[in-house]
Amino acid sequence: MTRQILVTSALPYANGSIHLGHLLEHIQTDIWVRFQNMRGHNCIFVCADDAHGTAIMLRAEKLGKTPEELIAEVKTEHEADFEGFHIKFDNFYTTHSEENRKMSELIYQRNHDKGNIVERQITQLFDPEKGLFLSDRFVKGGCPKCGEPDQYGDNCEKCSTTYSATELVNPVSALSGAIPIEKESTQLFFDLPKFQGMLQEWIRAGHLQDQIANKLSEWFESGLKQWDISREAPYFGFEIPNYPGKYFYVWLDAPIGYMASFQNLCDRTDGLDFDTYWNKDSTTELYHFIGKDIVSFHGLFWPAMLSGAEFRTPTAIFSHGFVTVNGQKMSKSRGTFIKAGTFREYLNPEHLRYYYAAKLNNRVDDLDLNMDDFVQRVNSDLVGKLVNIASRCAGFITKKFDGQLSSHCSQPELVKAFTDGKEVIAQLYEDREFGRAIREIMALADRANQYIDEAKPWVLAKEEGKAPEVQDVCSTGINLFRLLMIYLKPVLPITAEKSETFLNVDSLCWQDADLYLTSHKINKFKPLMQRVEKENVDKMMAASKEDIVQENAVGQSTTAASAQSPITEEPIADTIDYDDFIKLDLRVAKIIEASHVKKADKLLQLTLDLGGETRQVFAGIKSAYAPEDLVGRLTVMVANLAPRKMRFGVSEGMVLAAGPGGDDIWILSPDEGAVPGMRIK
Ligand code: 2FM
Ligand code: ZN
Repeated sequence: MTRQILVTSALPYANGSIHLGHLLEHIQTDIWVRFQNMRGHNCIFVCADDAHGTAIMLRAEKLGKTPEELIAEVKTEHEADFEGFHIKFDNFYTTHSEENRKMSELIYQRNHDKGNIVERQITQLFDPEKGLFLSDRFVKGGCPKCGEPDQYGDNCEKCSTTYSATELVNPVSALSGAIPIEKESTQLFFDLPKFQGMLQEWIRAGHLQDQIANKLSEWFESGLKQWDISREAPYFGFEIPNYPGKYFYVWLDAPIGYMASFQNLCDRTDGLDFDTYWNKDSTTELYHFIGKDIVSFHGLFWPAMLSGAEFRTPTAIFSHGFVTVNGQKMSKSRGTFIKAGTFREYLNPEHLRYYYAAKLNNRVDDLDLNMDDFVQRVNSDLVGKLVNIASRCAGFITKKFDGQLSSHCSQPELVKAFTDGKEVIAQLYEDREFGRAIREIMALADRANQYIDEAKPWVLAKEEGKAPEVQDVCSTGINLFRLLMIYLKPVLPITAEKSETFLNVDSLCWQDADLYLTSHKINKFKPLMQRVEKENVDKMMAASKEDIVQENAVGQSTTAASAQSPITEEPIADTIDYDDFIKLDLRVAKIIEASHVKKADKLLQLTLDLGGETRQVFAGIKSAYAPEDLVGRLTVMVANLAPRKMRFGVSEGMVLAAGPGGDDIWILSPDEGAVPGMRIK
């Protein structure tokens, strides 16, 4: 029976780049969706950018753009990254859409009409310097449950507890560093405790992994709390009907974005009906792939909101763990924060798909991307085993038999072992046990190589009268390769496509594993995949470090801030000793050349005269200066900074500049009378 399935990945925020963490989830989802479609089911994959909230509003303000401009730019970048990793959405939309506004209002209104929304007077944290209520991501402090320091105001990254910002221990405004004051206002709450019975049953009804269900049960022990779904202006989002100046909290309309993206798809697809998938009594399947950090939103608030609005609830929520790189948490300061764009600049995205698949299971474990293991595994499995089968056999068939495969199957038992793997491997994909599926497939690849090693077609080819045997062995090899490619197609869609061309067959589906190619003409073999070079991995890692240097270059801090109060935006750093200060050799330098740096968004290349010595420096000041404005000017540089190798060359020092970023960066210039090389004391 053909299943009707709707699948989502979590919606990435529209203010940052796609990184390896997002990719784990989207690749996991994409493999599962491609697998379902290969099995003949109707599996639809929708996603969107999560475009609302204070973070996006402030970031846009800082960049001197409207939020609409910012989210449009980010959406284009996200789409290119996902496409680069062969993530095939049926629709990638945005939560800032009319469909989402209507759907959010509908879900809110239905819950409101049933008395599931209540008004309450509450005390919130307010940043007296910025004039903003500080919610969720803009206040930091200790987790009220486990005590972990430096946590945001909505949930704890360590113990996943969600709480309100006022519960934080020793809160500090992340915008200004000010100590927030408490202010009263009326807000709207979703009455989660009313859903206690429904949720307790739901989380134990097979919709969640056990580990997640156990985690969520802890919520009931301390009693469910009403959930604040409103935010005060200024806020980038949807204004709440009949509450001017109040907006839906981003986490209310974000999951509704799944529905809105699907609605948008339905509106432009004949025969696709929204209600069939979302009505309370729908018989279709609905799955959300998410990270373990957002299970409470999906496992509690979301089913409650849906059920309160008379919509169906998810069939299941599939949570995964975090990505670590070389055993370390992805971190900007450690240089292990790898963006999708940087990865695909140096490495083959299909290799990451394969590596992730080889290590994924259906539990909530973290996944380590160990770069040495990555190189070894991809080269050994994909190049050494898989592609090798085809490349060893294809030449003989093309050269000696005009591309024609044998008219019969000479190894029915061996082929049967491969075909028999079909259901076991399918079940493993279905269960999201991708690592085990890959192990099964690679064990078959070993058998295929072993068969060819033993049959030695290259020896037979030199013997008189052995031509039919050569054709049989190589035809078997190519058929085994074809079966392996069917099984790997959800993971390696591009290699599968190239293989289909080589095999001269239509798009392969799962059922094709029952077929065997005889008297069939194949095309000339072209290399299907290159090895991963360690050197490229190193370059990619170096470039990732540099992405962060660029981001942090003068005024490019990632925390949102406006230009009004430069000192309070960035609290004064810890006091240093005089001995530390005296180590700095600050010199007057004359800019004698300035030029753009190819492919760098933020850097200019400067040649500086230090009075007899010249230095090359890369400075993150492109947003504020044109090269021609700089030539001939005096500035101040740190002259004894160790040279740093960057993607574009070596930077031999640092130019001093001030300002919050964008146009507002000023390089420091000494007064007249200063000459290049003078030491600043
Ligand atoms: O955690 C995040 O990155 C959120 N933007 C995920 C939203 S998923 C869904 F609920 F919209
Ligand atoms: Zn905690």
